[in-house]
Amino acid sequence: MTKKTKQPSLDFKTDWAYAPALEDTKHISLKKQYDLFIDGEFVKPHSKKYFATYNPATEQKLADIAEADQTDVNKAVSAARKAFEKWSKISASERGKYIYRIARLMQERAREFSVIETLDGGKPIRESRDIDIPLAANHFFYYAGWADKLEYAFPNRNPKPLGVAGQIIPWNFPLLMAAWKIAPALATGNTVVLKPAESTSLTALKLAELIRDSGLPNGVVNIVTGAGSTGAAIVNHPDINKIAFTGSTDVGKLIQKSIAGTSKKLTLELGGKAANIIFDDAPIDQAVEGIINGIFFNQGHVCCAGSRLFIQEGVADVVIRKLKDRMETLIVGDPLDKNTDIGAINSKEQLSKINKYITIGKNEGAEMYQSSCALPTKGYFCRPTLFLNASQSHRIVQEEIFGPVLTIQTFRTIEEVIEKANNIPYGLSAGVWTDKGSKIFNLTSKLRAGVVWANTYNKFDPTSPFGGYKESGFGREGGLHGLMPYLTF
Ligand code: NAI
Ligand code: MG
Repeated sequence: MTKKTKQPSLDFKTDWAYAPALEDTKHISLKKQYDLFIDGEFVKPHSKKYFATYNPATEQKLADIAEADQTDVNKAVSAARKAFEKWSKISASERGKYIYRIARLMQERAREFSVIETLDGGKPIRESRDIDIPLAANHFFYYAGWADKLEYAFPNRNPKPLGVAGQIIPWNFPLLMAAWKIAPALATGNTVVLKPAESTSLTALKLAELIRDSGLPNGVVNIVTGAGSTGAAIVNHPDINKIAFTGSTDVGKLIQKSIAGTSKKLTLELGGKAANIIFDDAPIDQAVEGIINGIFFNQGHVCCAGSRLFIQEGVADVVIRKLKDRMETLIVGDPLDKNTDIGAINSKEQLSKINKYITIGKNEGAEMYQSSCALPTKGYFCRPTLFLNASQSHRIVQEEIFGPVLTIQTFRTIEEVIEKANNIPYGLSAGVWTDKGSKIFNLTSKLRAGVVWANTYNKFDPTSPFGGYKESGFGREGGLHGLMPYLTF
């Protein structure tokens, strides 16, 4: 392998042309042990405790990760507070330059990030390479651009940063969620204490190395690892001004309770159970691809996954037949293989949760269909699964499964499908497939969902705001809207 010395390219495709085989992980240097990133350096945890992170596709341990306790969180918050005094005062265009530098370094190291993301979390390398890592870099590019334009974004409103942001992220899009959180916080002049999820800390720690190398002033970004109690220490810290959380609705509710009565600002991006709606006049083959992408992308570990399929009666038979045929072609297996469509379930716990729901679905009387693919003998894997004849009251229809499991219902009229789509505690996203623009406009105004995709699904872009209604949370991330939760006017 030759080491590349050229400037990072702005075009991922060309950058990848020189990539070593992605299955080859020899060029990836993982440390045996990872420490906390506080005030610009890696430091040992106060408790001296470490926990293991695993490769869910092989069940092998990858590394030990430091567990931060209250003392470590205190250190991280005071580093962030000290850094805020300077960071919020340097010129906005300087701030922008630092963020651009992070984006460019991320592109330069994209291969390493992609492979580590796939090793630690189980997602197919094709997705890490083509979606997660490029999008993460794009978030930094996008928000770098806003840094010196806040006066234009909010004319006559004198936007000011809040202070120290505590950010807690989940395991389904580890680096991308770190980017969603860190980039707007920095662009608006805040400093950060971020905690990745315990099963997928490695790319956030690689990001910490990148941030150190970028020359960002010490303490502007601090990354502390650990599980729920570390997260709670951040949430309850009195010197934090804002909490941004993405994860389960249960933990989101806990956080909301703990900060009630404080002056902390809060955004919550929680679970979902999106309706993906196929009308008689939809382009059927495209819709089938959209259904597949909607539920099987990232093993279905997607808060906005199209996990409830609604098919209009006239096309139900043909859609289901084509869907089953397409499912048979999906390759489930080694996430490092470029041909793999569905990788490993993120953890043993998540696999048992999915299996529990599959049993519930069968007991509730829905008709299960699974593709006949072989599964690897080691690691946590799940066959792509459909439940036909599901009904609105079934738990598999009402609750978030967060795996490759799709429920299928049919409908006759537009009124009926709107009522069913909305009759759910969540309201994060939805999909609509039809030939008629008027139907799309009618539906998008009536569906209680933060994002509605029309004739496509799971499309993400830094310019576009994302967030939910009801139990899916509140506040928006991405786009101009994503700046607001980090500002006071
Ligand atoms: P979780 O909500 O427990 O974890 C998300 C993050 O919150 C992690 O960083 C975790 O360490 C942290 N956390 C846990 N307890 C905390 C507390 N008391 N205070 C502060 N931070 C805390 O999610 P988990 O247990 O990993 O997954 C359970 C289910 O949640 C999944 O099966 C899925 O249904 C849902 N989920 C939804 C996500 C989404 O993006 N909407 C992401 C992750 C999970
Ligand atoms: Mg892991």
